[in-house]
Amino acid sequence: MKIQPVKGTRDFYPPQMAVRNWIIDGWKRVSIRNGFEEYDGPIFEYLDMYQIKSGEEIVEQLFSFEDRGGRKLAIRPEITPTLARMVNQQISSLPRPIKWFSVPRLCRAERPQKGRLREFFQWNIDIIGIDDVLADAEVIFTTVDYLREVGLTPKDIKVKISSRKLLGAILRGIGIGEEKLEAVYVVLDKKAKLPADTFEEMLKEQVPDKKMAGKILDFMSVDSIPDVEKQIKADSEEFRAWNEVKSVLGHLDMMGVGDFCKYDPSIVRGLAYYTGIVFEVHDTTGDLRAICGGGRYDNLLKDFGGSRMTATGMGMGDCVLEILLKEKGLVDERVAKRRVEYFVAFADHTFGSHVYEVAARLRSKGVRANFSYKPQSGLSKQLKEASVQEAKKCIIVGQEFLESKQLVIKDMGSGEQELVDYEEFLAGLKSK
Ligand code: HAM
Repeated sequence: MKIQPVKGTRDFYPPQMAVRNWIIDGWKRVSIRNGFEEYDGPIFEYLDMYQIKSGEEIVEQLFSFEDRGGRKLAIRPEITPTLARMVNQQISSLPRPIKWFSVPRLCRAERPQKGRLREFFQWNIDIIGIDDVLADAEVIFTTVDYLREVGLTPKDIKVKISSRKLLGAILRGIGIGEEKLEAVYVVLDKKAKLPADTFEEMLKEQVPDKKMAGKILDFMSVDSIPDVEKQIKADSEEFRAWNEVKSVLGHLDMMGVGDFCKYDPSIVRGLAYYTGIVFEVHDTTGDLRAICGGGRYDNLLKDFGGSRMTATGMGMGDCVLEILLKEKGLVDERVAKRRVEYFVAFADHTFGSHVYEVAARLRSKGVRANFSYKPQSGLSKQLKEASVQEAKKCIIVGQEFLESKQLVIKDMGSGEQELVDYEEFLAGLKSK
């Protein structure tokens, strides 16, 4: 019986692993230069932690199980609830602002499709304790800082920014009851993801009044700033929420990433805990699912039994990102090939054991060195092996080594050879 990998999972052979490491190294580097500190939590938590406030959709996608003590647990589908739990636990001793990042491996029992798998990596950045849209802008800036660094431009991607607070005020104004808001958000979030008639059916279930539903869809289709302003009543909750959106856009302009960003009222977000500014990054062709998403969640820490603590953050998976970067030709050239620096060969197999000695000394200097496992190989076979391993240079251990401790070094690119003193060569490596 041939054993298959589980649906929706990936095997990372060395070439795929190199890409994954390149993506994750970039996420970490950009987080650190933007002032975030790394944290992590367990890969499973109590099941009910995800049932408190993440929303129906994510609960349906949980991989859950019971441990031997009968405790109901779930593999993490996101890390934001863990973050809220961890921050609440040490709230009085943590220095503010809390600017943390993490790159957890997550699992969601989603229907596998392009860019959505059952196991993936997700970059998270979160700022806790800052009740100012400047923090929302900083999260968005950090996101763009990474995407820009890997070579994406405003022609490739757009950060679509909107506000749950603004949408909530509009919905209340239209007559949607407070208790209905969450269910309506879930439907509205699906607008771009579902066929039009399925979406309309779902909306009808939540908002049976055709006129009310029409007003909601009208509001969600206007993205020109002057046209939005015509719909906003002065000195109202929606007016204040709209000003927050404008401030975020203003900050992002000042930070030099304004051309990546735009107001887009169709962004709602699927998770239940968002309370203010929300955003998603999409590719401009609209062919792919969201590259990332996030926003403000001012009530989650309180809902988790802590005191009220404002928070804002973002999550970016590796799947859509990798597809997009590959489509744009931005991966291959940039992923460092883990090339062997020196392949140590013997001119004749009587020098074979000296090859291990030389390789071991190179390795002790931190140099990546390999040798052939085939003791009968002739030099030309070993050089072939060195080429397959993309070695930059080949060291040939021959008669000179025994007579005067000298080595031949062959540059595998140019084919040039030089004779060097063994100890001097090793000492030179140290100075590098
Ligand atoms: P989310 O929208 O559920 O938000 O996920 C954020 C991103 O994770 C998505 O845009 C996508 O890149 C990636 N992602 C989600 N599901 C999958 C999947 N099945 N396969 C591959 N990638 C996926 C959250 O998770 C929030 N906790 C983010 C956040 C942090 N909000 C505030 N802080």
